[in-house]
Amino acid sequence: MDPRRGDPDAPRARADGREHRNERTLGYLRVGIDEHPLAIQIFGSDPAVMAEAARMVEAAGADLVDVNFGCPVRKVTKTGAGATLLEDPGRACAIVEAVAAAVDVPVSVKMRRGLDDDSRACLAVGPRLVESGAASLTIHPRSARQMYTGEADHSLTAELVRLVGVPVVASGDITSGAKARAVLATTGAAAVMVGRGAQGNPWALREIVDGDPLEPTREEVAAELILFVRETVRELGDRRAAGFLKKFYGWYLGRGRFPKPFKQELVRLETTDEVVTRLLAAAPGAAEIVERLAAELPDPSDEILLDSMPISIYGGG
Ligand SMILES: Cc1cc2nc3c(=O)[nH]c(=O)nc-3n(C[C@H](O)[C@H](O)[C@H](O)COP(=O)(O)O)c2cc1C
Repeated sequence: MDPRRGDPDAPRARADGREHRNERTLGYLRVGIDEHPLAIQIFGSDPAVMAEAARMVEAAGADLVDVNFGCPVRKVTKTGAGATLLEDPGRACAIVEAVAAAVDVPVSVKMRRGLDDDSRACLAVGPRLVESGAASLTIHPRSARQMYTGEADHSLTAELVRLVGVPVVASGDITSGAKARAVLATTGAAAVMVGRGAQGNPWALREIVDGDPLEPTREEVAAELILFVRETVRELGDRRAAGFLKKFYGWYLGRGRFPKPFKQELVRLETTDEVVTRLLAAAPGAAEIVERLAAELPDPSDEILLDSMPISIYGGG
């Protein structure tokens, strides 16, 4: 099986953008042709269910299955999933074993440091997860209790690197190329993962990877946001997209790019058409960039669709 294209025998259908425009497509797992290499993360607390979920995401075209042992959100932890599993190593290992046995693609694990602020659970459980079949570990060294406050303690990342023979990915507070290089050098991690630094700010990756600190123009920002609005409407339909997108306006338009009242104005608009019209009025040059970027997007029919898969877009970690 070519994991990049998915298992041809798996239950799936070609998605037609128009056909699905008004459906609750969020409930479907869709993989675009330009989304590889792609890791898909699963979370849960039952090894057999997790193994089945892993088989499904592999069939959908995932190149790597990632298991979430980092989510600090109560809704998830109270079910025994997410970061709770760091304190339940037997179950955590059973999950990784079951998932690794279920799929041919590599399996990785995303962890926090533990549940409580001084926890070192990640160091106790990490090596056992590797023995159970994890091909790499990603560590966000904050506790679940910390959520996103304070600083990520990458001295734990360094300790984890020394304990395991697989690549370790460092997550937490990577917001610039300088920070990325410092964390890589001081921890021995194989890679860094960028979270909030890239929210509404895909240009951050250009600076982190290439050292190119060019701030996008207003036109580029408006164009990226318009494309994102369009894609979200295609997935969710206009009504749901209008609500879902509100938090993104601040992420894209903040950072001194547009005046604050402009963001507040967008949030109050009822339809995404009005949002796009207002963005184009504020940055008329964006229209041309949108056309150029849209031409680079793959045909929406080049997607693999797995029906009826309950999947949430935000877990947390
Ligand atoms: C809104 C939001 C959603 C997140 N969702 C996930 C998730 O589904 N799975 C996961 O492993 N981590 C998730 N994370 C955690 C990030 O992957 C990352 O570990 C964390 O934000 C620390 O990195 P940062 O300081 O670069 O943001 C999420 C973080 C945020 C802010």
